[in-house]
Amino acid sequence: MLTVEQVAACGVVPVVVLEDEAQAVPTAKALLAGGINAMEITFRTAAAKGSIAKVAREVPEMIVGAGTVVNLQNLHDAVDAGAKFIVCPGSDPELTAEAIKLNVPITPGVVTPSEIMMGLKLGLKVFKFFPAETFGGLKTIKALCGPFPQIKFLPTGGINQANAAEYFKNPKILAVGGSWMVTKDMVAAGDFEGITAKSKAATDLFKEIRG
Ligand code: 3PG
Repeated sequence: MLTVEQVAACGVVPVVVLEDEAQAVPTAKALLAGGINAMEITFRTAAAKGSIAKVAREVPEMIVGAGTVVNLQNLHDAVDAGAKFIVCPGSDPELTAEAIKLNVPITPGVVTPSEIMMGLKLGLKVFKFFPAETFGGLKTIKALCGPFPQIKFLPTGGINQANAAEYFKNPKILAVGGSWMVTKDMVAAGDFEGITAKSKAATDLFKEIRG
């Protein structure tokens, strides 16, 4: 089983929404060409399960995970399709426990100490902080790290090339999530060069700051 640290090693985990599973492999290859080797394909469209399966089968260098996993059906569909990690927008102890049972790393969303305490009880050490910018961004993360110095965050929501550096500078940030390097419009337009260019800019920034 992979660890969340291994999944997030390139510093940026793209949140990908695919309307058509035919977009999955070219999108994965475009991200890889820009230095991103993990992607979260969200269960926001009917194409999610098929897209995860295609990337798992055809692009083995890409660590493909499932995002917007909000119920047990999503979780089982994701794992059956070959998802290597699970991301949820919020915290559901039943869902988290089931992912742990299935041996798949899971990162539930939190914004409050109570949600963090629920995750700690289940053995988690990394949490998605979502929606990050709306809930106070780094200021809130720093406050949460007072009582919870042992945890790290994967903040997502409102992060982009312009504000990612401040997150990368904070050692409590494992990586950031976001859609700015692979927007729905870029995918719909088949702008795979653009996806690669924005992915490279993001991973270069991470390397510049973290070394
Ligand atoms: C989401 O779930 O939509 C993600 O957090 C992406 O947020 P972003 O589009 O602001 O990067």
